[in-house]
Amino acid sequence: MFDLCIYLTLQADEEESPSSKPIVIKAKGKVADLVALCDEEMEGLQINEDVTVDCHAGIAHTRWATHGPPCAKNSHPHVSSSNHEFVLVHNGTITNYRALKEFLIKEGEEFMTETDTEVIPKLCNFLYSKLPEPIPFPQLVCEVVKQLEGAYALLIKSSVYPGELVACRRGSPLILGVKYGIHAEQAPKSPVSPNTPLTPKLTGSSASAPHSTGDPNKVETQGLELFLASEASAVVEHTKQVIYLEDNDIVHMRDGEYTVYNWSDIDSASVEVRRTAQTLTMEVSQIMKGGYDYYMQKEIFEQADTIAQTMQGRIKATPMSPIKFGVPNVDRLLYPRVRLGGLVDYVSTIRRSRRIIFIACGTSYHAALCSRQTVEELTQMPVVLELAGDILDRRCPIFRDDTCIFVSQSGETADTMRAMEYAIERGALCVGITNTVGSAIARKSTCGIHINAGAEIGVASTKAYTSQIVAITMMAIVLASDQISKRKRTDEIVDSLLELPDNIRQCLLLDEKIKKLAENLRDENSLLVFGRGRNYATAVEAALKVKEVSYMHSEGINAGEMKHGPLALVDEHMPIIVVATMDEMHNKMQGVIQQLMARNARLIIVCNEEDIDMEDMIGARYPLIKVPKGDGALQPVLNIIPLQLLSYHLTLLRGFNVDQPRNLAKSVTVTEE
Ligand code: F6R
Repeated sequence: MFDLCIYLTLQADEEESPSSKPIVIKAKGKVADLVALCDEEMEGLQINEDVTVDCHAGIAHTRWATHGPPCAKNSHPHVSSSNHEFVLVHNGTITNYRALKEFLIKEGEEFMTETDTEVIPKLCNFLYSKLPEPIPFPQLVCEVVKQLEGAYALLIKSSVYPGELVACRRGSPLILGVKYGIHAEQAPKSPVSPNTPLTPKLTGSSASAPHSTGDPNKVETQGLELFLASEASAVVEHTKQVIYLEDNDIVHMRDGEYTVYNWSDIDSASVEVRRTAQTLTMEVSQIMKGGYDYYMQKEIFEQADTIAQTMQGRIKATPMSPIKFGVPNVDRLLYPRVRLGGLVDYVSTIRRSRRIIFIACGTSYHAALCSRQTVEELTQMPVVLELAGDILDRRCPIFRDDTCIFVSQSGETADTMRAMEYAIERGALCVGITNTVGSAIARKSTCGIHINAGAEIGVASTKAYTSQIVAITMMAIVLASDQISKRKRTDEIVDSLLELPDNIRQCLLLDEKIKKLAENLRDENSLLVFGRGRNYATAVEAALKVKEVSYMHSEGINAGEMKHGPLALVDEHMPIIVVATMDEMHNKMQGVIQQLMARNARLIIVCNEEDIDMEDMIGARYPLIKVPKGDGALQPVLNIIPLQLLSYHLTLLRGFNVDQPRNLAKSVTVTEE
């Protein structure tokens, strides 16, 4: 995180010194830089870290720079004034911040930062100062958030409400992790209700020894720890019990207990609500590097397994011979070969819909682009692709008889989520394809498919992309399962799906060769990738991977468009990767290669191992990246793997951080205003 701002706020022992001002420490750079700064400042302030306090809450945040450049000043927490009456962190974007700022300036407030967030603590303080008599902290926050437009997840502390913390969300993700301390086995298991007395008043820090209340009905949960975060991977190492907070939820933490309220847009009333905790299926090992140097490397190399996980329990792995069964109605035993539990009740509705619209951003959009042809081929339905941000910009017509399929690894991408709300308002059937159980898209969609690829931590999406293609392909097979005429074709695809994990392992053996290729390309300024048909998606996805992590300009081009402009870029210097595997586009891609060769282009060709013609045509003139052959519908899954490896090696060779590219975040939970 080279240019993200990081801050931490710590509060001194609140019981001993209720009026103590929250300490705010901010730094630009890596988390380790902040830790060093904290140590330094704590020493300066003579704070003894070994003192045990009864109840303590801290907030911290790495900022996504929406307003103002990344620097300590613009980083969170933002404060109401130098007295730190209200101190908060914010994930999201406040769209009406200019109007609020103008109003507050007229009221005499001074702003220190360029952020949208700063209006919130100032508004807290302004409203608090106008109160005829104090109101509870969550009620004050409720009054504040009613003035806000846009998206937010907020954590707020205040010196006027010592020992309390309020968290709330609307549009941006927020989860509450609950961890019981010692004697955790006695604590109430899921569902956890905020109304259940989670703990007697805390009388010791999380590390202190238990004490007996003498009351057998009382749960001893000394050391209850509560974690608020935007996603589960941030808390899984502490607890697996999480509550996914809903829009307009307000969590109030006080004296080691918490209560959840929800306020309604309609009558502005806020009521206490029960939210059920879910047990995360994610393992801590998923967020570790597991022997690899980088998450991106681990996630590329995991793909044989993650693809198998995506298919697990959903495909009939052993095709059964009708003769063996000797029964007339063998169809019932053989078919359907693919079953997607999350879609079963909606298959006929999808089939009856006017059209299928895939909506996604970035790599997830490319997965839909890759699989569109398979869906069209198997369902014979009109299939439209939309970038989530663009659908909102255009206010694109969506109808109640449309099926909208939202593809998102994180399930929290703000543009995709907003597009889903837009489609829900218009009555369309909303299907979610996500990798994150409990994410907003998974929760808000009517039905869907979990791709089960496991936590993806590297900012560049790799294993989610291949699993998304497999998930959409399986969906197309399910949608075609009532058509006998499509059976031969779906059988071919299913057989190829089953071969994918082994074929991916073969692709991964190319690692050393790709590293050498990356050494040849490391100093280039630009790289083009040509593909056609389904491999147009391979081209744009490979180019995205290269540019986002190695910072080399890269462009994915539909080879069918070559003559309409891009050919002008071709010379003996510009490196061009051509994806020319033996699928429906093979002949056309051979033609493309001929034309590029005629212009003395500098080519790198992705082809199949068994492509003798290519060998004859190219000889030793250009490097060939040979991948195993799969069905045309799945060949892009194999083709992208060496290109993911290329972007990985290029990045390392160019000296950049492959897991945390500059200016990018893993989940884009903010939208453009
Ligand atoms: C690129 C990448 C992004 C994401 C995009 C959508 O490697 O990761 O382009 O694909 O931000 O994210 P999700 O899939 O979480 O909606």
